[in-house]
Amino acid sequence: MPATVIVGAQWGDEGKGKIVDLLAQESDVVCRYQGGPNAGHTIIFGGETHKIRQIPTGILSGKTAILGAGCVVDPEVLVAELDAYGDRGRFCLSGNAHLIMPWHLAIDQASERRLGKLQIGTTRRGIGPAYADKASRIGIRVQDLLDPKILRQKIEVALAEKNLWLERVYEVETFDLDDVASLYEGYAQRLRPYVADTSLIVDEALRDGKSVLFEGAQATLLDLDHGTYPFVTSSNPIASGAATGIGIGPNRIDEIIGVAKAYVTRVGEGPFPSEIPSPVQEELRELGGEFGTVTGRERRCGWLDLVALRYAVRLNGFTSLALTKLDVLSTFAEIPVCVRYLLPDGSETPHFPAHQSDFHHCRPIYETLEGWEEPLSDDELPDAARHYVEFVEQALGVPVSLVGIGAERERVLARS
Ligand code: IMP
Repeated sequence: MPATVIVGAQWGDEGKGKIVDLLAQESDVVCRYQGGPNAGHTIIFGGETHKIRQIPTGILSGKTAILGAGCVVDPEVLVAELDAYGDRGRFCLSGNAHLIMPWHLAIDQASERRLGKLQIGTTRRGIGPAYADKASRIGIRVQDLLDPKILRQKIEVALAEKNLWLERVYEVETFDLDDVASLYEGYAQRLRPYVADTSLIVDEALRDGKSVLFEGAQATLLDLDHGTYPFVTSSNPIASGAATGIGIGPNRIDEIIGVAKAYVTRVGEGPFPSEIPSPVQEELRELGGEFGTVTGRERRCGWLDLVALRYAVRLNGFTSLALTKLDVLSTFAEIPVCVRYLLPDGSETPHFPAHQSDFHHCRPIYETLEGWEEPLSDDELPDAARHYVEFVEQALGVPVSLVGIGAERERVLARS
């Protein structure tokens, strides 16, 4: 599979890290095309747990790891990860990626506080404000780190406006030009050797017949354009984002693997039709260890939602699916699966509502599948578990090629 995109098919935290890590073993290059340190990939192997937020996890397997132009980069996080993992593989950073600056974090936090009950529930890592500056064409890019004079000038121009905003609108601390400039000059020293033309590197790798993995952060329903706006992230995780975020033509992509949990979780606010009522929700959360990698927040838990997954198939063009954490459902005697939504006008639909009010007010219609009530082994799935997987395949018209049956890297079943 020369060029493969891996995308979260739900609201994130589907266990993409593990699937990416598995497929990275067979790849030469692993890229991230959007997002920033709001992602959190947990990889467990060799008895160690690694939590990586910024660098593609392929670096752990000695691969070329790339952060593309569509990413936003927090240099503090990146430098710490390079200190920990930088010597394990080759790392390249697009000069066109945007930098998360200290004021982006301050604005993200202050604006969430100000929104109060209406908050988005962001990771507070400065993602939205950094992408907003990019769209407003006042962002500071990685390539600005290459010239200390330009870097200082850009920080000065930005601070002239941001400090006013922080002080007068949000009533929080402002930033000092010298402090920020010297902090970022320090990061610049460390990051300069990694800045590269990543679009060209990927293009050449593909021309040379190498395997390239494009790892989406966050997930389909958090997509800025097609997700459950405004409870979304500020970039495009969907598969086509790989082409724009890296800088290659969409026709270079061969395979698109959607990663879906065997149930659903969501962090942050927003409608969630198949959310499970208490106390079963808490039970599933404990069984699945559903607490955020980055924020430690409790994840909201729901039954598998095939309406939302069908939408993800449409948006991404999945060629196959990886269904993760099937083992977490092993103790349930019956497992509801949402197959349609009941809309406020009384009609039923298998399609994701195009209008937000319909989505806010729809009710899930479930089919209840039989549970298997036994641990999953590495050989063969019990009949009821196999039926669960086949039910998903039939409903979506997409083969499930991988099934996650445990937390460790090896505990994935490949299906032909
Ligand atoms: P932001 O990306 O920090 O701006 O957060 C926007 C929304 O995306 C919030 O609902 C977050 O909880 C959610 N989000 C961002 N990154 C992740 C992730 O890696 N997993 C799950 N949700 C995420």
